[in-house]
Amino acid sequence: MTKARLFSGMQPSADSLQIGNYIGALMQWRDMQSEFDAFFSVVDLHAITVAQDPAELRAKTRRTAAQYIAAGIEPEKSTLFVQSQVPAHAELAWILSSITGFGEAGRMTQFKDKSQRYGADQTTVALFTYPVLMAADILLYQTKAVPVGDDQKQHVELTRNLAERFNSRFGETFTVPDPVIPGETARIYDLQDPSSKMSKSAESQAGVLYLLDDVAVTAKKVMRAVTDSEGVVRYDRAEKPGVSNLMSIYGALTGSALSAVEDEFAGRGYGDFKKAVRDAIVAEFEPVRARTLELLDDPAELDRLLAVNAARAAEVAEETLSAVYERIGLLRAPRA
Ligand code: TRP
Repeated sequence: MTKARLFSGMQPSADSLQIGNYIGALMQWRDMQSEFDAFFSVVDLHAITVAQDPAELRAKTRRTAAQYIAAGIEPEKSTLFVQSQVPAHAELAWILSSITGFGEAGRMTQFKDKSQRYGADQTTVALFTYPVLMAADILLYQTKAVPVGDDQKQHVELTRNLAERFNSRFGETFTVPDPVIPGETARIYDLQDPSSKMSKSAESQAGVLYLLDDVAVTAKKVMRAVTDSEGVVRYDRAEKPGVSNLMSIYGALTGSALSAVEDEFAGRGYGDFKKAVRDAIVAEFEPVRARTLELLDDPAELDRLLAVNAARAAEVAEETLSAVYERIGLLRAPRA
């Protein structure tokens, strides 16, 4: 039986991924890559919807890809590629923009939030059409499953609508994808401000754990995480957001249910608990960091690997794009 397709991606917008990306995305991707025919992309074309420094963008693209591999995405099993190396993404995005309503795109809450924050002069047209490019990413591969965070659910919903619209107007062409949203405990919050999702753009970096940080820095941040005065390791998101967040992290990294974590630390203080969380994180991050740095040490080899994967992706993508061009009535050049 052929495996169902899976597509997901991350923007190369940081030097290092943080533990929220690791637990909320990479660990799920790693677990799903056997069951699915998986495509994972470093979506650099999405990153340029806001201004990027050229040299940094290139470096971050390599770093992001290296972290995917170091975290266990296998480039022989899954297809791990850089979005801009497969021209079909930009090409299909243009076609899809021709069946997307202006109002429909304008209802995307992420665009509304970001454009309000940036102001009209800093908001690019590409930021507006970003969800259409994301739809192209997904639809090119006849994707069934799209693991994404909650914040991307509306974009997958738009993708479904575009696929259905295209299919009914021009004939069955696209698979209609489903979002796969990880559970609440895969959502990681800031260690200093556990009511906010952990984010690299947080004002203070004291509550953000980076995969590539020196482990001593990470260890210190964990030991300083905010808790509460109850002194009991118990999961309660509303009343005990700090402790609950550390429990989610510990549970995810050790593969234990929250109830097992509660049992393990029953009658023990927060000091003990934090040390265990720290040790689990350090044990998880150390090899990932070492492997990432090793991969980055040989950029030529990494680039070669990515190119091979992009060629594999292009083969699938071109087939879909060709069908699309045909269906909508573009005059195709005869084969030479
Ligand atoms: N927009 C996604 C994010 O910022 C990244 C992304 C781009 C993506 N294309 C995708 C995710 C396709 C899933 C599928 O998180």
